[in-house]
Amino acid sequence: MRKPEIRTELPGPKSRELLELDHAYISPSYTRLYPVFFDRGEGVWLWDVDGNLFLDFTAGIAVNTTGHAHPEIVKAASAQMQRLIHMSGTDFYYAPQARLAAKLAEIVPGGPNRRVFFANSGAEANEAALKLSRYKTRRPIFIAFYGAFHGRTFGALSLTASKAVQRRYFSPLLPQVVHIPYPDPFRPPLGATPDTVSDAVVDYLEHTVFEKLVPPEEVAAIIFEPIQGEGGYVVPPDDFFPKLKSVADRYDILLVDDEVQAGMGRTGKMFAIEHFGIIPDIVTIAKGIASGLPLGAMVARKGLMDWVPGAHASTFGGNPVSCAAALKTIEMLEGGLVENAARMGAYFMEHLRKFMDRYEWIGDVRGKGLMIGMDLVKDRKTREGDSERRDKIIWKAYEKGLLLLGAGKSVVRFVPSLTVTREEMDVALEILEKVLQEVG
Ligand SMILES: Cc1ncc(COP(=O)(O)O)c(C=O)c1O
Repeated sequence: MRKPEIRTELPGPKSRELLELDHAYISPSYTRLYPVFFDRGEGVWLWDVDGNLFLDFTAGIAVNTTGHAHPEIVKAASAQMQRLIHMSGTDFYYAPQARLAAKLAEIVPGGPNRRVFFANSGAEANEAALKLSRYKTRRPIFIAFYGAFHGRTFGALSLTASKAVQRRYFSPLLPQVVHIPYPDPFRPPLGATPDTVSDAVVDYLEHTVFEKLVPPEEVAAIIFEPIQGEGGYVVPPDDFFPKLKSVADRYDILLVDDEVQAGMGRTGKMFAIEHFGIIPDIVTIAKGIASGLPLGAMVARKGLMDWVPGAHASTFGGNPVSCAAALKTIEMLEGGLVENAARMGAYFMEHLRKFMDRYEWIGDVRGKGLMIGMDLVKDRKTREGDSERRDKIIWKAYEKGLLLLGAGKSVVRFVPSLTVTREEMDVALEILEKVLQEVG
């Protein structure tokens, strides 16, 4: 069984040299944690430029659905590159874009009566959703959630309410966005309990926001993450989305489901909203859709997406190579990867929950499929998040060759590619166990 191998001090000499170059020329706004340069990947394994081998449980921030450099994806993308790299779907027709649109319309909840707009990223997919919602409803206002991350362009950033640093000095943003609490069962807002949090949030929307702040008939859409990602891997209670939908329906407000992080099989279903039994009006997709090639998509009911030529477009959106990679990714998801995500996720979470018996400071283990969070607390009663211990765990894991990411204030997230095997999970658990002992 392959295991991480750290052969040099970290960062190694080649990484150190490249770091100087990077620090001299790259925007300092990025939030890179690991000071190593990755060179090559295979499945969940990554080599850095100094020959160190890491086990990657980040998948390029939940993007590499089929693992690094999957031969089937490489083959599909290279075959497309040899035929046509770019044409621009804005002004020209090419088959991979139409075929992918038909496939997405088929698999998206509520399909196939759907149309697709292609973009290049999650933020752009959400921008398209904002624009379509306004275009169709002629209403100005949007509702989003505290803790949400929907992207960093001005429209998407106006919806994002995850960390103040992401908004500082960028105002004014879209003036007509109202945020409401997300129904977090672990740290329930509005004085609720885990059992009453869905009602509390929906009641707040209807009886505080709509009665005192914004008339519901002026609200175009409510945009939400089916499982909150950057905000801390928060899984809402099962009854929340059906309750939210009944309020939205009452006022003809559109529901926009941001599946950028949770979609494309990651949660053990093709789309995370399938866990909650509602059909949204608009679904946005990016990240995992093309196994690492840049692609975003906004999918809406046919009757909704009837804007006129010129209303919205994108030069690169729906690039043929990305579309070819996406078609192959979906084929592999349907061929067993979604199921693998469900199985491997359950296996990993079961083991993480056992760690909770040993360590008081693991406050919660939650998630679905391979979208898993471990929330570190200072005290199990108050549930105050412990970001220091979280950061220590991530750093120590890295030193042992396991790559992890944080989310929210105090959560370690585990998002390996959907190809991960049980043996690879065991290697990660073995390293994690040592790390938890060390920080205990
Ligand atoms: C739920 C969600 N929406 C949107 C985005 C923005 O995607 P992108 O970085 O591709 O613009 C992200 C990125 O993390 C996300 O997690």
